[in-house]
Amino acid sequence: MGQEKYVYDFDESSDGGKELLGGKGVGLAEMTGLGVPVPAGFTVTTDACRAYMANGKALPGGLEREVEEHLAALEERTGKRFGDDEDPLLVSVRSGAAVSMPGMMDTILNLGLNDEAVEGLARQTENPRFARDSYRRLVQMYGEVVDGIDAHRFEQALSDLKRERNASQDVDLTAEDLAELVETFKRIYRDETGTDFPQDAREQLARAVRAVFDSWETPRAQVYRRAHGIPDDLGTAVNVVQMVFGNKGDDSGTGVAFTRDPATGESGLYGEFLPNAQGEDVVAGIRTPQPLERMEKVMPDAFEQLIDTMRRLEEHYRDVQDIEFTVEDQRLYLLQTRSAKRTAAAAVKAAVAMVDESLISKEERRSSRWRRRVSTRPRARRPGRSCSTRTRPRSAGGRGRASSSSGGRRPPTTSTA
Ligand SMILES: Nc1ncnc2c1ncn2[C@@H]1O[C@H](COP(=O)(O)OP(=O)(O)OP(=O)(O)O)[C@@H](O)[C@H]1O
Ligand SMILES: [Mg+2]
Repeated sequence: MGQEKYVYDFDESSDGGKELLGGKGVGLAEMTGLGVPVPAGFTVTTDACRAYMANGKALPGGLEREVEEHLAALEERTGKRFGDDEDPLLVSVRSGAAVSMPGMMDTILNLGLNDEAVEGLARQTENPRFARDSYRRLVQMYGEVVDGIDAHRFEQALSDLKRERNASQDVDLTAEDLAELVETFKRIYRDETGTDFPQDAREQLARAVRAVFDSWETPRAQVYRRAHGIPDDLGTAVNVVQMVFGNKGDDSGTGVAFTRDPATGESGLYGEFLPNAQGEDVVAGIRTPQPLERMEKVMPDAFEQLIDTMRRLEEHYRDVQDIEFTVEDQRLYLLQTRSAKRTAAAAVKAAVAMVDESLISKEERRSSRWRRRVSTRPRARRPGRSCSTRTRPRSAGGRGRASSSSGGRRPPTTSTA
């Protein structure tokens, strides 16, 4: 009997589609195929997750070896080593089920950092502030997701430090402040778990993959599935993605956007952008993001690339896309694309506009595929998503995210850009 294959690189073909790779994994693979700038990486399939759940939380045989092989390929490709002290390869470990469950499951960024590697990264980039900022984020996310530490503990420590330093925003903290914050976060980690923050990158990765599988079964995810009629046995894929850094300084940033107005279907700029930040900041409400228009002023090249990429994605998917992106040193990277949920009226308007713009044909507009995708619940412009589906009162239990059926949601923002 041939060994099951559980891992696919983003540029490797598979016939499994969303059911196998999850929506996020398929999106990353398709964008890679289109030549859209996407960081390199690989997807551990939903098959592996189902096997894990069926085996009483034991990883299926061969999975660890496969992950190791794909990691080696990623190292080869990026010219960096995972666990290296001088110039470490860092990755994110991201959940992604076949059916989109926005913000319901877990993701960890900056995996691969430790006490040595953070100093290496600081030297390598000549940017100690950035290196320590990345490390404190890892300790917090890992603590929350893998060890179930209440996010409130980290958030409290951060706001205490800001108050002491008279810093109104995270970005006002210096490299020295962040070094201190890392120590505080590591102390919280030790307090809560009885062990030191794991220094071994491979141990971090192995535990993160399991934690993402486990996040399929959190009460929060179960409640969401019940409310949306999603079967419980689908499982999630896990995407391991080379990190790109929006928190390197003023030439970097992160954002979310719709390729057109999801509420009306009209073309235009609908999104938000946060300079010098990592992805989570946009949705966590830590700082007020700026409208996408602002990006044109501060990073015109990346903005132009973004507009061009959004158009290419609409051409390919023939549908309004909901995207996540990061700019590192003026270079754009796409981290996610998915079909945007729209009202019926907006879907019709978007289809008409896309016919006019020759992105889809009249026949396609009439097809059932288009009609099927119409959601019955209007969603506000993308930033509204952050309020309606992704705001996480991190102290609400579970793995530090909302665990109740309401998910701590606030009503959707209805303002237009
Ligand atoms: N390799 C990476 N480099 C830079 N940013 C990343 C990377 N991986 C993920 N991110 C960002 O981190 C944030 C969280 O990631 P992710 O998309 O996995 O979860 P989510 O957006 O919270 O929920 P959902 O599962 O609905 O997408 C996003 O803003 C994403 O763009
Ligand atoms: Mg996402």
